[in-house]
Amino acid sequence: MDKLVIRGGRKLGGAVPASGSKNAALPLMAAALLSENGTSDLHRIPDLKDIRTFSALLTRLGAVIDYDGATLSIDAGNMESVQAPYELVKQMRASIYVLGPLLARFGHASVSLPGGCAFGPRPIDLHLMAMEKLGATVTIDKGYIEATVKGGRLNGAHIDFPISSVGATGNALMAAVLADGVTTIGNASIEPEIVALCGFLEAMGADIEGTGTTTLVVRGVRSLGPARFSNIFDRIEAATLLTAGAITGGTVRVTDVEPSHLATVLGKFEEAGCSVVTDTESVTLQSPETLLRTDVIANPYPLFPTDMQAQWIALMTQAKGISEIIDRVYHERFNHIPELNRLGAHIEIRENEATVHGPKRLTGTTVMSTDLRASACLVLAGLVAEGVTEVLRIYHLDRGYERIENKLLALGADIERQSYQEFR
Ligand code: EPZ
Repeated sequence: MDKLVIRGGRKLGGAVPASGSKNAALPLMAAALLSENGTSDLHRIPDLKDIRTFSALLTRLGAVIDYDGATLSIDAGNMESVQAPYELVKQMRASIYVLGPLLARFGHASVSLPGGCAFGPRPIDLHLMAMEKLGATVTIDKGYIEATVKGGRLNGAHIDFPISSVGATGNALMAAVLADGVTTIGNASIEPEIVALCGFLEAMGADIEGTGTTTLVVRGVRSLGPARFSNIFDRIEAATLLTAGAITGGTVRVTDVEPSHLATVLGKFEEAGCSVVTDTESVTLQSPETLLRTDVIANPYPLFPTDMQAQWIALMTQAKGISEIIDRVYHERFNHIPELNRLGAHIEIRENEATVHGPKRLTGTTVMSTDLRASACLVLAGLVAEGVTEVLRIYHLDRGYERIENKLLALGADIERQSYQEFR
């Protein structure tokens, strides 16, 4: 098992590139299953554990995948199975993304229930509701979602999501593109990852109207073909790297980003006293002498992303004053707080609201990762903590960040990956 050993106190400086988006890559890979022949080429696919896990699942279904660490090619011409087994789905809940494509193309899907995660139950009721609206019969049998559609083809329908769900919007889209008739999706997610998915589906021959809005109209077609598509950049990784600059009092430039995908977060950096300069594909952040407190409410895009909530709390431990951070997307996504407090932070939790008292001097110690963004938050805290911080179980971090220690080293951090044994 690996840990990151960080000696805090260095101001970070320099420029690093963002990688391709994990949360766009996964639905793009799933959508490639819809092509009846030929090979789809997806560019800028990050070399992450979640990508390798999902590749293993798609291969198990019969897709042929070739990946060189940047471009991932998928040939779904000879699929052999419609069952996504528990041992793979339990490693990554986003495996649920195969439900829509398998049902759309083969009229049947058997997908293991994904189970919960470190910050709550993570229901999938909206995914199942969308499939039923499109004419599928969905039952749960021995922990598997068994979805079938009589006659083998879904029918266009009106789907209205009561809450904004990225995954359910993605699954509904990937099911509707091959349905018989027109599907309208109300209260659709408008995250950049969904906009990217629409772009790839259209390149494959899908007919989608309203991309980027909360109302999508999909006219079903008989079949889709392969396409080439360049993935978007990872807006959450980029924001995490900018936070590393802000928390250490440095100046950091992140290249290969789409600044408009980060607008709300950049506004919050400015509210905290940072100076932020953007150009077409980069953001430069310069830290102030004194970080200012801010209040943040995590909400669906384009508001402040829940995937930046933990990192922002780490930053606010160094800000002057009391900051209130609320997460309206995941009410229990606060496992990072006890570990931050062990580093010397003073953070109180009440339901889905964290109150951060700052500035607080942090002192390095050994801390435990519990989930992907919590581990990023602890790395950020380690960069500013006095002495040495050891962040354990960084397999969580490796799910969503492409060897982040290399990028932080390039920015001047004193950070090293070491393997270690855990004794239970
Ligand atoms: C995606 O998860 C991301 N994962 C998450 O990022 C991100 O936090 C989340 O969107 C919100 O932006 C991927 O894209 C792989 P949702 P997803 O459906 O699609 C509730 C990370 O750190 N809900 O938009 O699963 C749900 O409980 C990960 O990279 C239902 O009630 O999120 C949540 O409260 C973590 N029923 C809200 O909707 C459903 O059927 C938003 O969830 C589905 C969701």
